[in-house]
Amino acid sequence: MTAKVPLRLGVNIDHVATLRQARHTPYPDLLQAARCCEAAGADGITIHLREDRRHIQDADVVLLRKCLVVPMNLEMANTPPIVRIAADIGPQEVCIVPERREELTTEGGLDVAGQQRELAKTTRLLRENGISVSLFIDPDIQQIEAAAETGAPYIELHTGTFCNAPDAAAPAALDRLVEAATRAHALGLKVNAGHGIHTGNLGGILEIPHLDTLNIGHSIVCDAVFNGLVIAVKTMRKAMRAYRGGRP
Ligand code: PXP
Repeated sequence: MTAKVPLRLGVNIDHVATLRQARHTPYPDLLQAARCCEAAGADGITIHLREDRRHIQDADVVLLRKCLVVPMNLEMANTPPIVRIAADIGPQEVCIVPERREELTTEGGLDVAGQQRELAKTTRLLRENGISVSLFIDPDIQQIEAAAETGAPYIELHTGTFCNAPDAAAPAALDRLVEAATRAHALGLKVNAGHGIHTGNLGGILEIPHLDTLNIGHSIVCDAVFNGLVIAVKTMRKAMRAYRGGRP
C-alpha cells in the first residue's frame, strides 16, 4: 500500500514552555522553538492551553497565531472560557481533549458517546469560526461512531496505550489502533494520532492505516536536549517517511 500523501508531523512544543515555566524566565523562547520546528520541516505546531496554564500561556497562543507560518493546532478542554479563547484567537485547528488537573499529561481519550451533544455544539461553534476540529479519543469503536455524529472532520487516536505497553501487550494495542483507524476512515473521518510516540515505537505506529498527521512532543523535546531541536524534528520527519499507508 502506498500513502497518497506524506504523513504530516505536528510538533507539540508544550515542553519547551514547561522548561520556561519551571523558573518563570523569558527563555527558552517559544517562538524561536516554533521557528526551529518550521525550519526543520514541521507541518504544524501543536500547543495545549491547559486550564491550569502549567506550560503554555494565553500570550503564547496569541503570539504564535500571529507569527507561525505553518498551521497552529490548539489542544484544549471543552470548557466555556477555553472555547471562547479559541474562537477569539482562531487557530487553524483545535483538538478537543479531556483534561484533569491532577494528571501529568492527557491520560485518556474523550468520552464522546457520553458528551455527544456538548461536543457537537462546540464543534459547530468552532467550525463557524473557520476552525477545523479534531476529537482526541481512545481506539474504541463506540467512541469513533459517536465522533462521526458530532460533525468533527477529524479524530486523533490516543496512541499512549500502545506506546507505553509492555512487549506482550503491544500487538493487541496496535490491532485496536488499526481497527479504529479503519472504522473511522469508513465513516468519513480523517485520522490523526498522537501521544507517547518516539522513534523506537514509530514502526508500529506506521502500521496504522489512513493517517494524516502525527502529533509528537515529549520525545522530540527530549531528543533536542542532546541534539538540538532542528535535528530532533528532522530525525522524526525522516523516520516518518517510511509510511506506506499502514499494514500491507
Ligand atoms: N496529542 C494530544 C491530543 C496530546 O494531548 C498530546 C500530549 O500533549 C500529544 C498529542 C503529544 O504527546 P507526546 O508529548 O507524548 O508526544
